[in-house]
Amino acid sequence: MDRIHIRGGIPLRGEIEISGAKNAALPLMAAALLSEEPLILENLPRLADIASMADLLEGLGVEIKLNGTTGTTGGRTAELSAKDITETTAPYDVVRKMRASVLVLGPLLARYGKARVSLPGGCAIGTRPVDLHLQAFEQLGAEIELAEGYIEARAPGGLVGAHVIFPMVTVGGTENLLMAAALAKGETVIGNAAREPEVADLARCLIAMGAEIEGVGTDTLRVQGRDALHGALHEVLPDRIETGSYAVAAAITGGDIHLRNARLDLLEAATEALVRAGVSIEETPNGIRVASANGQLKGVDLMTEPFPGFPTDMQAQFMALLAVADGASMITETIFENRFMHVPELCRMGADINVHGSSAIVRGVKQLSGAQVMATDLRASISLILAGLAAEGETIVNRVYHLDRGYERVEEKLAACGADIFRQAE
Ligand code: UD1
Repeated sequence: MDRIHIRGGIPLRGEIEISGAKNAALPLMAAALLSEEPLILENLPRLADIASMADLLEGLGVEIKLNGTTGTTGGRTAELSAKDITETTAPYDVVRKMRASVLVLGPLLARYGKARVSLPGGCAIGTRPVDLHLQAFEQLGAEIELAEGYIEARAPGGLVGAHVIFPMVTVGGTENLLMAAALAKGETVIGNAAREPEVADLARCLIAMGAEIEGVGTDTLRVQGRDALHGALHEVLPDRIETGSYAVAAAITGGDIHLRNARLDLLEAATEALVRAGVSIEETPNGIRVASANGQLKGVDLMTEPFPGFPTDMQAQFMALLAVADGASMITETIFENRFMHVPELCRMGADINVHGSSAIVRGVKQLSGAQVMATDLRASISLILAGLAAEGETIVNRVYHLDRGYERVEEKLAACGADIFRQAE
């Protein structure tokens, strides 16, 4: 397994290009199943999760052509054609690797009246069930059974629109239902819908495919079902979590980085927290500039919440930052249980962090020190890299395959800003 070696203490300066958003690209790829005409997606990031979704779709019979590099951020363009679907089962081997595989359930059920998807098991950051997705499909008339570790969903007469109010905000649940509703009979109203920018990006793509959706970007989505959707071209929006992660890299090293193609409006809660911590953020004509001129950081309290609140996917990175800020900070995680697995690893690097239930008290220390650490999940991995960039001496991050699921060429992007970082392949 690959490892990443970092020698910390260098203020990062330069420019980093932000890739297309993984969490937007995955549902957008699944949306290709809704039409027999091709969906062209621009600005797809080069990531292991994107390759997993492509494998899953190809297994269902989707033809995928990669057309080189276009779009505004140098990402890849793919043409996905779901003309002849040969299979409606998403097997265990793929779903096990990536929970977002469950996003094929809604489109398959809506277009073919049946789908079989392996139940995603527990995962490192909590139990993460899909019960809300399944309840929503039942409200649209689907029959759902769980057998031999698979979700078996059927809607022989087609799905019928309904009024669905999610009891808690779910990003994947909203996306799955939105795709299904686009081909259901009549109107579907989705209440307490997730407002994450990736949901809005999916809605915009569905509209380009002929869907009728009102309320995009709000917590109430109104969908008029169509008999069929057509092909479309859609550019994936920039990755706000990658943006936030590199903003923390600038801040934690006392550096100055321009994040090209980043969008401030996608990341207001996190940038506001950076400003409170003493970091300067400036919008530029084609991105965001993040600088921490005197390197003095102040502790801030944070609570993760659904968008537009502070994103759970930025919690681990901020914990690394606050570990070296002046004073104490309290971080409360409200979205996932068990999302503090980076804490013992950060403590091995000299951080002073105590966890009590869903809150962590971070008492800033003057200096972290390099250590061998183990990445446990995607965002925990990047938080250890960020801590390593600030630490004295060498940090070795093991198990970086988590990182490759969600960060494109992370060591190249950081090295281009002066970081002393390299990957050791094994
Ligand atoms: C998506 C993101 C992930 C991010 C998360 C929250 C993708 C591919 N992943 O994950 O990076 O951390 O949003 O912003 O976009 N829940 C249930 N039952 C369900 C569904 C969810 O109880 O049927 C719970 C989950 O366990 C969790 C909460 O709802 O506690 C939010 O989960 P959800 O928004 O669905 O996250 P994902 O879509 O899996």
